[in-house]
Amino acid sequence: MAKHTVTLIPGDGIGPEITTAMRRVVEATGVDIEWEIADAGEHVMAEYGTPLPDHVIESVRKNKVAIKGPVTTPVGTGFRSVNVALRKALDLYVNMRPAFSIPGTGARYENIDMVIVRENTEDLYAGVEFEQGKPETAELIKFVADHGAGTIRPDSGISLKPISIMGSERIVRYAFEYALANGRKKVTAVHKANILKYSDGLYLDVARKVAAEYEGRVDFEDRIVDMTCMGLVLYPEDFDVLVLPNLYGDIISDLAAGLIGGLGMAPGANIGADCAVFEPVHGSAPKYTGKDMANPTAEILTAVLMLQHLGEHDAAERILAAVKTVLAEGTDVTYDIKRTNTGSTEGAVGTQAYADAIIAKL
Ligand code: NAI
Repeated sequence: MAKHTVTLIPGDGIGPEITTAMRRVVEATGVDIEWEIADAGEHVMAEYGTPLPDHVIESVRKNKVAIKGPVTTPVGTGFRSVNVALRKALDLYVNMRPAFSIPGTGARYENIDMVIVRENTEDLYAGVEFEQGKPETAELIKFVADHGAGTIRPDSGISLKPISIMGSERIVRYAFEYALANGRKKVTAVHKANILKYSDGLYLDVARKVAAEYEGRVDFEDRIVDMTCMGLVLYPEDFDVLVLPNLYGDIISDLAAGLIGGLGMAPGANIGADCAVFEPVHGSAPKYTGKDMANPTAEILTAVLMLQHLGEHDAAERILAAVKTVLAEGTDVTYDIKRTNTGSTEGAVGTQAYADAIIAKL
């Protein structure tokens, strides 16, 4: 029997190509993993009538560890995000996204080393929405007016932003525990509590209370989200661990990805009390589907996080070192890295050839 059984969700768009590259790199380390393939996404709709069949959730529940490629979500209409549904179904309340510089990516900054800890289950992403024109939306608008809570235009659509004590406590505590376990010095709680007094205000109150328990062990500060954006661009070295409610966490993770050379470089993990689902920050980049062009680094670094989680530290370190060597050499790299380094995509290699270059350095 394999030492680890991991659910593999290839996903949509570039997902199958980058997960194949990832899998080849992981297997080349000799680590003993059996992959249980359970696919989800737009392309399984026709077969199962849903983008997230129950057997996918069951497979992750059983194996407790999954790695996935990106999954397409139609904008505005159509089914809700598979990623959000998976995070909710398995209560994967942490979205952990490290952002660290690797020389050779051509990124604008060289010494980025921060970790984004994003709350994954509530806030504007809770999926509690009222469609414009529906009777229940009119009822809600009346309820708000009747309680003196404000006037909402009758032709509005409404998305609710619930933030709870429990949800805030456990994410902030995770950020502090992560900081302690990984030798990190500071946690920054990001919010807009000056405007959103009852949601972000509550989050900030809870964050301060949790922070007090760690006083003397991990430093704490809080920052308003807009100032945080400017700070990240001007002085990224000021940041260490950032803990954020869902929406800000989503946006700031892409900003952090930009600091380290783009979405093709940014790994991530969704973690709950029982299961963990590893996935890169980026989406399914549909325009690159099937072209053997996409950069699989984010997916491969996501596998590094997964291997650390599985206790396979040696394999994780070997892959990270091999990725660093290939990027530093700068010859066998994908189009995006070639372009940030030379201004042109000329000489770039494909997704699988890049994986081959990494395998050769293991
Ligand atoms: P995206 O991240 O797929 O792509 C934006 C652009 O970033 C691409 O056009 C490409 O230029 C670049 N890019 C992204 N990944 C890359 C890679 N590995 N290598 C090279 N270049 C890369 O974002 P977009 O276009 O907003 O979303 C496309 C679809 O992905 C949507 O349906 C969205 O809902 C979904 N999505 C899924 C996620 C997930 O499964 N976790 C996360 C984010 C978006």
